[in-house]
Amino acid sequence: MDNGWDASAQAWIADMGDDGDFGRRYVLDGPMLARIAAKPPRSALDIGCGEGRFCRMLAARGIATTGIDPTVALIAQARHRHPEGVYHVAPAEALPLPDSAFDLVICYLSLIDIDDLPTAIAEIIRVLAPGGTLLIANLNSFKSAKSGDASQAYLDEFTTWEEWRGIRIRNWHRPLSRYMSLLLEAGLMLRHFDEPNPSGGDPDKVWRYRKWPNFLIMEWQKPV
Ligand SMILES: C[S@@+](CC[C@H](N)C(=O)[O-])C[C@H]1O[C@@H](n2cnc3c(N)ncnc32)[C@H](O)[C@@H]1O
Repeated sequence: MDNGWDASAQAWIADMGDDGDFGRRYVLDGPMLARIAAKPPRSALDIGCGEGRFCRMLAARGIATTGIDPTVALIAQARHRHPEGVYHVAPAEALPLPDSAFDLVICYLSLIDIDDLPTAIAEIIRVLAPGGTLLIANLNSFKSAKSGDASQAYLDEFTTWEEWRGIRIRNWHRPLSRYMSLLLEAGLMLRHFDEPNPSGGDPDKVWRYRKWPNFLIMEWQKPV
């Protein structure tokens, strides 16, 4: 089923620019990079890497990073901006990568885009090395529930179409318990949980990001 990403790719690339949007630049990048710096990986995989901004940030920190994304135009842009990088056109549900190959897997605002989450989680665990880390930045489920129509309940799973600045894409809403249950049942151990505070930028936006739930960060570990 079309998820809007092919038609939205050029607008997305323009919207990200060099530094990412407000939520990435002022809310998520800092705490995500701090988690990574606290336990530097030798190899990382960014799932749903888009046009590759976070892969480039990790590569600049000396981390061998692979990016995967099913949207051809976004991977083309990632390769164009980072020719020495490793990028694959692939969905999270079928990673063209060997078992136990990465000690860090990142899902940076991409779980909400993945249709078959149980299969994607099984694939993530397969490519993670024993003891490896899964670092997730996700849309808070209270936020994604607000996009539902009058018939759609927080406790249901449903998709919505989101539109802004020329982008029109389909997002999944899932209750927080759905994410937690799948990750726990897969045997992962929760090591960190945060609802990050903005660290700068337009004061009106800072207030909006503090007033209502927007993002969460979770770090999970695969057993040794
Ligand atoms: C909201 S964007 C996030 C991109 C990037 N991680 C960032 O933070 O800028 C979501 C990305 O998920 C990708 N995507 C869609 N379906 C996917 C799937 N089944 N597996 C992996 N990525 C998917 C989209 O192509 C898009 O690049």
